[in-house]
Amino acid sequence: MSVLRPVPTGNEIKLNAKQFIVSKTDTTGKIVYGNDYFTEISGYKESELVGSPHNILRHPDMPKVIFYLMWEHLKNGRNIMAVVKNLAKNGNHYWVVTDFDIKRDQSGNIRHYLAFRQAAPKHVVSEIEPLYGKLLEIEKEHDMDASLAYLQGFLEENNMNYDQFIEDLAKPKGLAAMFFSKMKKMFA
Ligand SMILES: Cc1cc2nc3c(=O)[nH]c(=O)nc-3n(C[C@H](O)[C@H](O)[C@H](O)COP(=O)(O)O)c2cc1C
Repeated sequence: MSVLRPVPTGNEIKLNAKQFIVSKTDTTGKIVYGNDYFTEISGYKESELVGSPHNILRHPDMPKVIFYLMWEHLKNGRNIMAVVKNLAKNGNHYWVVTDFDIKRDQSGNIRHYLAFRQAAPKHVVSEIEPLYGKLLEIEKEHDMDASLAYLQGFLEENNMNYDQFIEDLAKPKGLAAMFFSKMKKMFA
């Protein structure tokens, strides 16, 4: 189905830190399943989400380069953690930390991707928002190669690769980490 892009309102949806937003896609990123919290927060009916590409939730403030890195990791069978600002059907937004699971068939071919999202803590959003703002500005002026080069420069300056940067910043710790791994096991 085709859905008109919602206009962002600038209003943030407050997520329940104890709940997970889970979705499953095919290898092209088409949604095949979402849990109840996914439908509740996105504001779409399950029937609208299932069968739609995952960019149905894409917020225009998200730089392209983050999705480029996401897909480069996933297609190569590597997990990635990402901080994502998503757009709900009513134009409100919510910030999440997303972690993935890659599902393969018996021959080892990738069949599905599972995404597990938890509310992004405030300090994570405060740190990532200005960086995303810069990446987006660069993409508007130039292209994604330029934002990728900037991101690489930023990471080099901080002596890290993307995975280390995002894990240091956003990886759930302590109880939240236990909760996260339990949730992933439930969907294993
Ligand atoms: C399992 C999985 C979950 C995804 N979750 C999101 C998401 O929550 N929000 C989002 O904007 N894109 C998500 N994506 C990425 C989208 O497929 C897409 O690359 C992104 O929205 C950018 O779309 P565009 O290149 O058409 O602008 C997800 C992809 C996969 C494989």
